[in-house]
Amino acid sequence: MTASSDPYSGPVVLPDDPTLGPEVQLDYPGYRSTQWRAPSLPLVTLPEELHRLDGPVFGESALEPSDGDLTRQHANEPLGERIVVHGRVLDEDGRPLRGALVEVWQANAAGRYRHDVDRHPAPLDPNFSGAGRCLTDAEGRYRFTTIKPGAYPWRNHPNAWRPAHIHFSLYGRAFEQRLVTQMYFPGDPLFPYDPIFNSVRDPRARELLIARFDLEETRPEWALAFEWDIVLSATPFEAP
Ligand SMILES: [Fe+2]
Repeated sequence: MTASSDPYSGPVVLPDDPTLGPEVQLDYPGYRSTQWRAPSLPLVTLPEELHRLDGPVFGESALEPSDGDLTRQHANEPLGERIVVHGRVLDEDGRPLRGALVEVWQANAAGRYRHDVDRHPAPLDPNFSGAGRCLTDAEGRYRFTTIKPGAYPWRNHPNAWRPAHIHFSLYGRAFEQRLVTQMYFPGDPLFPYDPIFNSVRDPRARELLIARFDLEETRPEWALAFEWDIVLSATPFEAP
């Protein structure tokens, strides 16, 4: 396959060139800002002794009880579909990461961020800030209560809309285990048209970005639930 000249008039067509190195693959043509973010030099992996010494440590005292419940941060509840998002943070060997800081941010139910640069003409919700954080427990589990975010336009290309998503930032045992990523919801019709989602070129890896609807954790008469596990591994750095 080759990249379509106008991939957004239909489903995104991915380049499939095995000669492309990882640096080139991070520069995804359909996702414009990757041209400035993608590394231009070969990546290097830090020696083990440099990344096992000073991992970040976050104490419970750094968090407020409401930090993990985005529906309880204001006088009243936000509008929208209340959901629970939970899962485990694991290392490459499947071991749970205890005390990992998990931070989330998201648009409100109307697809609007509480941020100065978001001028999407959708209403802000006075009862929703859209940011939360928690620490994983002894089994590596995290849990948030929030509302399902709406899709929003983002002007990357004509009629560009993001699938509903929640942004995640995680710190593992070491700083180079930081991961910034996005969680998506199953069955979103915008997946084929979103260059950010499709910039993850391996279809199996894209599937891992989609949470699982979790009936077992759904709270009757109150909230649906989604489960999303996250694996952290050391990230190679761009060579200086
Ligand atoms: Fe977003």
